[in-house]
Amino acid sequence: MEVTLSVRRYNPDDKERPSWWQDYTVDVERTASVLDALIKVREEVDGSLSLRCSCRSAICGSCAMRVNGHAHLACNTKIIEASQDGSKIRVEPMGNAAVVKDLVVDMKMFWDKVRQVSPWLQPAGPEPAGEYTAPNEAMLHLAGVMSCIMCGACVSDCTSLEVDKNFIAPAALAKAYRFVADPRDAQTVERLRMLNEYSGIWDCTRCYECVQACPKGVAPMDRIMAMRDKAMEAGFTKTYGARHTDAFVDSIEHSGWLDELRLPIKTVGMFNLPKLMGFGPVGLRALMRGKMPPIFHTPVPNVKNVRRLFKKVRATQGREQK
Ligand code: SF4
Ligand code: SF4
Ligand code: FES
Repeated sequence: MEVTLSVRRYNPDDKERPSWWQDYTVDVERTASVLDALIKVREEVDGSLSLRCSCRSAICGSCAMRVNGHAHLACNTKIIEASQDGSKIRVEPMGNAAVVKDLVVDMKMFWDKVRQVSPWLQPAGPEPAGEYTAPNEAMLHLAGVMSCIMCGACVSDCTSLEVDKNFIAPAALAKAYRFVADPRDAQTVERLRMLNEYSGIWDCTRCYECVQACPKGVAPMDRIMAMRDKAMEAGFTKTYGARHTDAFVDSIEHSGWLDELRLPIKTVGMFNLPKLMGFGPVGLRALMRGKMPPIFHTPVPNVKNVRRLFKKVRATQGREQK
């Protein structure tokens, strides 16, 4: 079948064009992947096209790039899926990374962030004669996160990282979870203390992009949420993130819907005047557009059903912890 790839190109030596789109049409098998088509372009049409790949089997993680606007492994993305109606397939380098040339990006920031979470086991006590062992269930639970191939697809599409380059970002946070949840590790509290700071677990906006982008089902956002729970259980409850979570839950449990007026006040603290004044312009804009939340927050009808749900969830959690 014939397919047209529209590739976003960049050449640091080309001072005339910061970047440009170039179309390539090639003949490929119906079963071909986007990577197969790109390799064909490089070998038969334009040898100057740069891309990174190795295993061609979704194992090495080196061929991550944006296909039709979202990060994918090119070797794991079928042409017929990416171009269902025969349209052009848009191929770009990963986001949130400096482009070296064409589809090749600099992974330094990615690896720096992984290093930031100390991605190695830190057990306590004397070294055992054999291996450090862990219960089967614990390791089975970690198998999902351990299947990360460090491709960077999640980081490419992370909306938080897009606005704050300090955010540790999903891949490194998923890696952090791998050790936070490992029963052999003795640094859980220290790890959570670090992750609880600015740029850590509370800076995720829960946009789901990383869950969607991950080709290995690691679901980084779910790991981040699990670490938030663990951080609060470990007593790290004084952050804005933890207070926001508590205030959110309280509001829903109390009235069945969100009290948007009190949520920011409870999050930053009633006496935190500088922070509260920072909300002034937003409040004013909401007022002018008729979107100011009501001052008197009344419960929804049948709020007792919502409270019953909370009770049920808490009972289940209690049972799971036993
Ligand atoms: S869910 Fe959080 S970590 Fe994942 S992409 Fe969105 S902001 Fe980034
Ligand atoms: S979490 Fe998934 S998307 Fe992110 S680096 Fe690992 S395998 Fe790639
Ligand atoms: S080439 Fe190895 S994951 Fe795609």
